[in-house]
Amino acid sequence: MITTADRLKTVEEYYFSKKLREVRGLMADGKPIINMGIGSPDLAPSQEVVEAIQESVLEEGAHQYQSYQGLPEFREAVASFYKYKYNVEANPASEILPLMGSKEGIMHISMAFLNPGDEALIPNPGYPTYSSVTKLVGAQPKYYDLVADNDWFPDIEVLEKEDLSKVKIMWVCYPHMPTGAVAKVDQLIALVAFAKRNDILLVNDNPYSFVLNNNPISILSVEGAKEVALELNSLSKTFNMAGWRVGMVLGDEKFINPVLKVKSNMDSGMFYGIQKGAITALKSGQKWFDSVNETYSKRKELMLQLVEKLNCVYDDNSVGMFVWAKLPEGSSSAEEFIDNILYDKDIFITPGTIFGSNGEGYIRFSLCVTEEKIKEAISRF
Ligand SMILES: Cc1ncc(COP(=O)(O)O)c(C=O)c1O
Repeated sequence: MITTADRLKTVEEYYFSKKLREVRGLMADGKPIINMGIGSPDLAPSQEVVEAIQESVLEEGAHQYQSYQGLPEFREAVASFYKYKYNVEANPASEILPLMGSKEGIMHISMAFLNPGDEALIPNPGYPTYSSVTKLVGAQPKYYDLVADNDWFPDIEVLEKEDLSKVKIMWVCYPHMPTGAVAKVDQLIALVAFAKRNDILLVNDNPYSFVLNNNPISILSVEGAKEVALELNSLSKTFNMAGWRVGMVLGDEKFINPVLKVKSNMDSGMFYGIQKGAITALKSGQKWFDSVNETYSKRKELMLQLVEKLNCVYDDNSVGMFVWAKLPEGSSSAEEFIDNILYDKDIFITPGTIFGSNGEGYIRFSLCVTEEKIKEAISRF
């Protein structure tokens, strides 16, 4: 008998992969499903980006293997983007690597730094991939609580009282997914100081900076952060390029080089045309950001009407491409709540519990849904 590796027993099929199969089944049965579950931008990338990839495919060498580190021009574009948008200096020769989406970076960083038995601090609620990748590499997730009363920010004093001797990595994500919480500069300073005191590699996963957020911040803007921190970023949400699979990791070369060591053994460079399109996107002017946000802002206004119809509560300070809403007092579990809506109203909303136990009592609406569909959803109640 051919058996699978033991590591597969540590993870389950991704919730969305399973649930969307069910949702697709309902659609195939003719149900008029409105999918408010997943954050895959439905808006198009800019025309310039599309033209850049189109033109690039005719260039000499476009279809050959590319450098593991990416085109120098790509790394320079990332460096300028970071300087201009976050006031962060990063050396394009040594402190930037292209990634096939930030999701890939979570695996590469974990492979580069975690041994079996090591621990990784993981937000609850948080992006499920931090936890599954940690398990796949044989390390242990050590969840830290994020709660509304503390603005979805870790209680560092409480954390520091725990045994952190096995902790090697701390995953943070600000602006936070799924709650949309933002971290202030002094909170990021406190995180960097915590990581330094405890010899922990701090990784900020930062793909939502530019969606309905007036104050994008990078963890690398904290003084001395590069001694302990890496940052993941992505073009998926900022430039509507989720399917392109393009992102990046930035940080000191002492952390970037081990990631490159893993990466160069796994892929053989990023397609030239994708890099050319990404370079064009990274050079987008303010008009691009304003126009995307105008659309999301209108959608959010409508989505909040739906939230109100469901008697849920929303925090006005949150940002990003999701609406994180608290269920009314006395509600059933989040999964039961969304299943009832799925089967009664043909609307799919994400239950907060897929992001961890602290997501119980919450549901998440994606803004990657047209205004017409949101209006239609409202009219079903
Ligand atoms: C918090 C967070 N990190 C990372 C990702 C992965 O993004 P990508 O791999 O498309 O850059 C997502 C995608 O939904 C996300 O929500």
